[in-house]
Amino acid sequence: MIGKIPKVKTKDLLSVTDFSKEEMIAIFEYTKKMKDELNQGKTHNFLEGKTLGMIFEKTSTRTRVSFEVAMFQLGGYALFLSRDDIQLGRGETVGDTARVLSRYLDGIMIRCYAHATALELAENATIPVINGLTDTFHPCQALADFYTIYERNKNFKNEKLAFVGDGNNVAQSLMLTAAMLGVNFALACPKGYYPAKNVVEMAFSIASKSGSVITLTGDIAMAVEQATYLYTDVWVSMGQEKEASRRRKDFAKYKITMKILDKCAPNCKVMHCLPAHRGEEITDEVIDSPQSIVLDQAENRLHVQKAILCALMVK
Ligand code: CP
Ligand code: NVA
Repeated sequence: MIGKIPKVKTKDLLSVTDFSKEEMIAIFEYTKKMKDELNQGKTHNFLEGKTLGMIFEKTSTRTRVSFEVAMFQLGGYALFLSRDDIQLGRGETVGDTARVLSRYLDGIMIRCYAHATALELAENATIPVINGLTDTFHPCQALADFYTIYERNKNFKNEKLAFVGDGNNVAQSLMLTAAMLGVNFALACPKGYYPAKNVVEMAFSIASKSGSVITLTGDIAMAVEQATYLYTDVWVSMGQEKEASRRRKDFAKYKITMKILDKCAPNCKVMHCLPAHRGEEITDEVIDSPQSIVLDQAENRLHVQKAILCALMVK
């Protein structure tokens, strides 16, 4: 039997830090049970009759499909709301949108540019709001990624995640999650691309209690030493298209190649949130190598988000 849906204190999931470490582990345990049972053909209609609205200001493959399929598998319904197809795109306020949608829906997932938009939506909505990526954070990605590691090593002992690339939304959420779970985390990136100061301070403060070692450096060899997981993401995130040529120059040295992978711990796994710009931040040889677990990560978005949806939406 699957057991009780984990209880969480937060109404919304805007950052991984909205969960406690214990809640995060409970979500992982529940994810594992639901995933195992799904593979045995069992169904979980925990969100029957419930509807999730999905607001997208930016494009998406994984987030859109995994949330939509998650709601379907849970017996509920998902509504795709492109920003330009709703009045939000014509200037209706975020607050009014939140208050109105709260009268129809049981939850909202939002992918938007400014993190402040997701915060404002959550403040004004009486229903749970889930961050499906902002310029600042990508909590569902980080939770799926650490669940992917959890599946391989339940207590995360002796794991080190090295992120080579931009200190962006994905890197910031990974750094905070690593700090919470006591996993060592190193980021190698060029000057000017480090994570935001307030996020770094938060990560260091959390790490001082969990015992995780956080390293921020420009030195790739130092970051990847002893790494059991090597992670990268695009150099040009959604919304940064105008900076593309400068970024390509600045990040040129930070491409993940076999030479870099060989500097990590033996049999180090390769991670990427996808979509990848093959040949840019990562070579085909690395992303297609037997050490790559990028498809497990993508699949686990579905399973983890199902547990998150249940924890937030089942009363
Ligand atoms: N990793 C991720 O969020 O992918 P999409 O942009 O396709 O949703
Ligand atoms: N950092 C990337 C992640 C895409 C899933 C972006 O924001 O575009």
